[in-house]
Amino acid sequence: MKQDELKKLVGEKSVEWIKDGMTVGLGTGSTVKFMVDALGRRVKTEGLNITGVTTSKATAKQAEDLGITIKSVDAVDHIDLTIDGADEISDDFQGIKGGGAALLFEKIVATNSDKVMWIVDESKMVKNLGAFPLPVEVIPYGSQKVFERFEKKGYQPTFRKSADGNSLLLTDSENYIIDLHLHDILDPETLAADLIKEVGVVEHGLFLNMVNTVIVGRSDGPEVLD
Ligand code: 5RP
Repeated sequence: MKQDELKKLVGEKSVEWIKDGMTVGLGTGSTVKFMVDALGRRVKTEGLNITGVTTSKATAKQAEDLGITIKSVDAVDHIDLTIDGADEISDDFQGIKGGGAALLFEKIVATNSDKVMWIVDESKMVKNLGAFPLPVEVIPYGSQKVFERFEKKGYQPTFRKSADGNSLLLTDSENYIIDLHLHDILDPETLAADLIKEVGVVEHGLFLNMVNTVIVGRSDGPEVLD
């Protein structure tokens, strides 16, 4: 099966966990897009009463177009379940997210959720994190200085460019993303602590000890790990 087919498989499988009346965190990315489409179908055909808490403008637009009620994280008293994609998941279920530049809202929504589920095709499952560049969201003012400090630490930073390549990418919160090319992250906890103490860093894409269930798309079917 192609990667997109595996993403569709897990996206469609994951909505089985969504029950009538739930408040659901809706992640961001191409895998989540399949999940939101499937949820939209269930809302339409089964008349499910779902409140969605979205993690990006893109997901909010998709969900609204499908008739899913959307609220801000600040307007709900709890989130039952968040379903999101991931860029890498290690053997011990730590993750890198932010390939779609939505890591800040994704982490806020995940942190405020009773349960978190990640849906991925099998290529995202790795032994150790780090082959995927680690995204760090930074305030534009002073970002060159943060970049230089990352360089000195040997983190091999690059500013993420916009889709047309002509400017720096701006996140939904109008910040920049610096991607760190670390190759192998052996101690994610220490790295996370180091990154978050840097003035100007808003958030980083290490999602540690946050996930309850992972659905992995494999050619012989979805594998549920929890
Ligand atoms: C966005 C994310 C995505 O969940 C992650 O990049 C996976 O995306 P895709 O499902 O398109 O492979 O973290 O910030």
